[in-house]
Amino acid sequence: MKGEVCQRERDVPRRGHLISFEGMDGAGKTTQLELLAERLELAGVPTMKLREPGDTPLGERVREMLLDRKLKRTPSSELLLFAAARAELVHRLIMPAIEEGWIVLLDRYADSTRAYQGYGLGMNEKTVEAAIGLATEGLKPTLTILLDLDPKKGLRRLQTIFDAIEERSTTFLNRVRRGFLDIARREPDRWLVLDAARSVGELGKNIWKRVQTL
Ligand code: TYD
Repeated sequence: MKGEVCQRERDVPRRGHLISFEGMDGAGKTTQLELLAERLELAGVPTMKLREPGDTPLGERVREMLLDRKLKRTPSSELLLFAAARAELVHRLIMPAIEEGWIVLLDRYADSTRAYQGYGLGMNEKTVEAAIGLATEGLKPTLTILLDLDPKKGLRRLQTIFDAIEERSTTFLNRVRRGFLDIARREPDRWLVLDAARSVGELGKNIWKRVQTL
């Protein structure tokens, strides 16, 4: 099984790129993703914008489930729901797009699972990686942009999916933030870590500079 995944990874001609945006809720990921998409489109680069969870019929249904405050879930079922939405997105949209040479900009990806379910909820690393491996078929982003933000500053935008899961305290969010920073430190070549408190324009310029090197 593992061999199959690796084989597949080698076989995929990577003509395009996957660029993911990560960070705390309210860090400005979506704004920066839109800005980068505009720049790439102006430069004539075929660009696709996607978000997680969502953007496929099944993914949108899963998103609704995750947003439903009345729907109880355990950490494991939450992990599997995010994985199910991701599996659809990777298989149906991201892989084919990359093979055709598109640049795919993704609002959250596997590193959100590592940070929120792994560091935040304290799920076992092997379990988290198994779910990620299954869902992504081994597909890693070429570049991941982390908009690092003190959770206190992002809290005003926090009325998202997470209200439905449980009350996510500042302690939880601090663990998530530390998670992102830890993961980024382990793979410095893949990550661009930026202070989300900087201006939109400044952040945009930094991201553009890095993307041009691809
Ligand atoms: P969303 O409303 O999309 O928030 P945002 O504006 O930050 O994108 O909600 C996504 C929430 O789901 C966000 O709080 C992070 C969380 N999440 C996980 O816990 N695990 C995951 O694997 C993903 C993709 C998201």
